[in-house]
Amino acid sequence: MCGIVGYIGKKRAVDVILKGLSYLEYRGYDSAGIALISDNTAHIYKAPGKLSNLKEILSLEKEENINANIGIGHTRWATHGLPTEINAHPHHCNCGSLTIVHNGIIENYKDLKPDLEKKGCKFLSQTDTEVAAHLIAHEFADTKDLLKAVQNAVKKLKGAYAFCVTHKSMPDRIIAARKNAPLIIGVGEGENFIASDIPAIIEYTKKAIYLSDNQVAEIKTDSIKIYDENDNLIANKVENLPFEPIALSKMGYKHFMLKEIHEQPDVVRNILIDKIKSEDLAVVLDDVKLSKEELTKINRIQIIACGTSLHAGLVGKYIFEELTGIPVDVEASSEYIYRNTIADKNTLVIGISQSGETADTITAIKQAKEKNSHILIITNRKDSAMARLADSLLPINAGIEVSVAATKSYMAQLLSLYLLAIYTAENIGAKENNLVKEIKKELLTLPSKLETILNDTKNIENIAKKYSSFKNFIFIARGINYPTALEGALKLKEISYINATGYPAGELKHGPIAMLDETMPVLAVLNKGIVYDKVLSNCEEAKARQAKLIGVTNFIDEKHKNLFDDTVIIPEIPDIVSPALNIVVLQLLAYHISEYLGKDVDQPRNLAKSVTVE
Ligand code: M6R
Repeated sequence: MCGIVGYIGKKRAVDVILKGLSYLEYRGYDSAGIALISDNTAHIYKAPGKLSNLKEILSLEKEENINANIGIGHTRWATHGLPTEINAHPHHCNCGSLTIVHNGIIENYKDLKPDLEKKGCKFLSQTDTEVAAHLIAHEFADTKDLLKAVQNAVKKLKGAYAFCVTHKSMPDRIIAARKNAPLIIGVGEGENFIASDIPAIIEYTKKAIYLSDNQVAEIKTDSIKIYDENDNLIANKVENLPFEPIALSKMGYKHFMLKEIHEQPDVVRNILIDKIKSEDLAVVLDDVKLSKEELTKINRIQIIACGTSLHAGLVGKYIFEELTGIPVDVEASSEYIYRNTIADKNTLVIGISQSGETADTITAIKQAKEKNSHILIITNRKDSAMARLADSLLPINAGIEVSVAATKSYMAQLLSLYLLAIYTAENIGAKENNLVKEIKKELLTLPSKLETILNDTKNIENIAKKYSSFKNFIFIARGINYPTALEGALKLKEISYINATGYPAGELKHGPIAMLDETMPVLAVLNKGIVYDKVLSNCEEAKARQAKLIGVTNFIDEKHKNLFDDTVIIPEIPDIVSPALNIVVLQLLAYHISEYLGKDVDQPRNLAKSVTVE
């Protein structure tokens, strides 16, 4: 969602900020803007659309106006008001002295607005943020102190915010504040940085302070002061940032998504290291902070997540129930919240999130925490807000994922769920059986099987080309691969904008089959296993309605050879591990369709990488 970059130091702020914003493009945005203070004047530039539009405007500007050493920049993902220039950030007070960039939603902006209007404030935009600009400006008029003004103002704001504020009369400081939205302060020498996420600043510094909820910071060239919610100065906790700038390179691939798909074998290797040494040894999972006795008492598991992470959770249900016998509920975070969910101290609540910043999941986790359940977080960002809520933290260590469409993080989430389920089964003595052994053995061979698919993608590319003109798609599967169908459909729709829906194959005949004809391709995922024949029958039913059929399978016998119009054959793999292999075919198919159609693969329209509003 919105990206914030702030800079104060000796460099040309405009360069640092524009570069930082370009590294935050992956978060999703539809307009951009920047405010620079030079000669005691705030110069504000904004443009709808891509960052290149803002750069164009800046390139036409007089050098003396943009040659500043302090500034704040923003990429906006519209929540209140269209993505127009007027609604783009930075917003400012009526005299243009105070500027603000904001990520989040100020929920009580409509309550605050009338009073500010009575005091003479003129509102130019439809945004919630502009209310904060006027509110802080009024506090500043009383206090003549920008820090104090922000501290007073945040006590009146409800909702979520991460923001940066400057005032032209105080060009030596930026004030930052945070509540339920990410914000970090990059610590430099003779310069400091503020950003929504690490990529924006990693080129300049590897040290940062993670601002916590309700904290306000005063950032100058050579000092950073952090204040708690009672306005007390607190000690700075400087941490090392977790990755290198190289992680942000496409490494020769055309898109980050393709690079990240190809990284999956290494992601799997990385996650298994030290955890499964051989099929005969127990899984080692030091991150689980539940004793054997506590694990044995767990009588219910709830998995909460959104989007792709939710699909990983659905696979997790199959694995957990099969291996441990513990009942598992999986729910979208946005549905889990604002109702009386049933959980207690014997419930294990698993939150899954690539970013660790998804607002719906954070709210759901906080709700579960109140029920005294053990909170286990599976995330790719051990520096995230969600990670900080965890009783047990399982970092998936997939490396930064830049493409909005999640691929390698899904793979790493699946692997974490396999490990966790096996670990639980082994600790509670649920299954001293061959299945656990078989899964361990298969997981160890997974990287090379993934490579077999990734080393020859020609067939998938041809299928992608052949089907790219279809406007609708149905994905079907059963059992543990039903979530694979959901995830394959999500990948296709988010990056190609083709209408794709995943169904349990057996459900086709209960309604969706009415849509089938030669214009509706059906992609079936079918692995040799308990539901194989059933899915084949569902494919026959689709074929009888003239649907074009694509099969993704590890087995096809002679008599069914002609059933499918196209097939992708994957390596042999037991059903229970197959979601980790099948999904790669569907990721590649979605990628190549999107690429063939010339879509913006890495930054699909309307989407954000971290969805930080509810
Ligand atoms: O960061 P999270 O895993 O919590 O994000 C959840 C969803 O927003 C995310 O998976 C989204 O569906 C992706 N764009 C999927 O590719």
